[in-house]
Amino acid sequence: MEKIISASILSANFSRLEQQILECEQAGVDWIHIDVMDGHFVPNLTMGPFIVEHCRKITNLPLDCHLMVEKPETMVRDFFNAGASVITIHPEANPNIHRTVQLIRDLGCKAGVALNPGTSHLMIEPMLDFVDLILVMTVNPGFSGQVFIPEMTKKIQAISELIGKNKDNIHLEVDGGISASNITNVCQAGANAFVSATAIFGHPKGITAGVYDLRQALVK
Ligand code: DX5
Ligand code: ZN
Repeated sequence: MEKIISASILSANFSRLEQQILECEQAGVDWIHIDVMDGHFVPNLTMGPFIVEHCRKITNLPLDCHLMVEKPETMVRDFFNAGASVITIHPEANPNIHRTVQLIRDLGCKAGVALNPGTSHLMIEPMLDFVDLILVMTVNPGFSGQVFIPEMTKKIQAISELIGKNKDNIHLEVDGGISASNITNVCQAGANAFVSATAIFGHPKGITAGVYDLRQALVK
């Protein structure tokens, strides 16, 4: 599976969003990650389909939409219409995860399921035949700039084993506190898609340097 860097615009400078996304694209980012928070499932309020629509006008890169919301099933159609490529939902926010994942796929998007740090990796087992992506949260969802929880590496390994022979069909994505200093480890644990906000948009030398550092650490 190819190694994917997904730049989370949660830490972007929104007064210059277009330039920032274009710089990501030029620096070789693979996906743009959009963190959707509703102020209920997580203690923060961020972006809706409107922002996805704007991103879609700026870039042709896949838009990796991470829905940290209650009742995501009521919103997936709007995100699809806005231009989402991947829609990831949380089972902690949606008891009928199977139905919602089917809806996402029926719309023509890739369907992802995200697990909070406190959620068992076994939660994903019944869904392995139905998902295109599994997202392991390596911080508690809500904010960028938090510290990577090292114990989550075991969970990445466990899920990588569960995926087993399906490795070519299911992305294993990690999100939270990913930097050039831990990306090699999470990659070795089995992850192939890496979300990053701070290490890209908050890099002291700028976006291009941030993406370069992550990519360099990945090829090691
Ligand atoms: C956290 C979000 C992450 C966040 C990552 O709830 O899901 O995507 O933006 O930010 P960093 O890379 O700064 O941890
Ligand atoms: Zn995210």
